Amino acid sequence: PMIFVITPTYARPVQKAELTRLANTLLHMSNLHWILVEDSERKTPLVSGFLQRTGLNYTHLNVQTPKEYKFPANRGVPHGTLQRNLALQWLRDTFSTGASQSGVVYFADDDNAYSLELFDEIRTTKTVSVWPVAFVGGLRYEAPKVNALGRVYGWKALYAPERPFCIDMAGFAVNLHLILSKPQANFQLYGVKTGYQESSLLTGLVTLDELEPKAANCTKILAWHTRTEAPQMLKEDKDRFTDHEMEI
Ligand code: UGA
Ligand code: MN
Repeated sequence: PMIFVITPTYARPVQKAELTRLANTLLHMSNLHWILVEDSERKTPLVSGFLQRTGLNYTHLNVQTPKEYKFPANRGVPHGTLQRNLALQWLRDTFSTGASQSGVVYFADDDNAYSLELFDEIRTTKTVSVWPVAFVGGLRYEAPKVNALGRVYGWKALYAPERPFCIDMAGFAVNLHLILSKPQANFQLYGVKTGYQESSLLTGLVTLDELEPKAANCTKILAWHTRTEAPQMLKEDKDRFTDHEMEI
């Protein structure tokens, strides 16, 4: 099966660095298709040029998050939601028409760290596979709880443990046919509390007992929810230097 990696991304000083690091991970995999969705009104030259040079198979999309929902008043509208839904739409438009592409869909944000082993694990996903993710929900890691029969029965989570799926975006993958057979399943855009975005998609796709634990029955960390510090740049940088044509 083809792995479809869906990544929302937005312009900021570290964007190209993040995309470079993620691409360097993805380049190790064969049968991988990257769907990179810019949060922007138009496709930017930076991202277009970057993708053309990567050597990855990719689809470049864009949709802008309405300004009133962006920082700093980012309340109730999670990051990357419209972008991930657009990628799901692209998958449905591209593969619903009888063409029997086998695939697995993974939502990889541009700032996390991913083990190469993870991609081997997720390729065998039949419905929805799950695994632990480090540095989320105020914990060293959150994880699905797996019983002796290899079934997921709950979650190791402290933040909002009443969530239907206590799992970060980096902690699950979905079989493409499941995405195609449930065309109504999408990320909810409005009124989603922090940490509930993942559940808003997953509740439309599976029940707890259908989840497939990966990463040695969820005993290994293969994904890290890292976040990049915004670089400090002096005001003088703007005033004194005129090298703004430098793409960074
Ligand atoms: C956590 C989860 O790991 C995200 O998957 C989830 O989208 C987010 O919470 C949420 O629920 O809002 P966090 O590190 O806070 O992650 O989110 P970011 O990494 O800032 O954003 C997630 C993705 O969306 C990134 O790939 C980022 O480039 C993209 N993004 C972010 C946009 O496309 N537009 C934005 O305005 C902000
Ligand atoms: Mn992040």
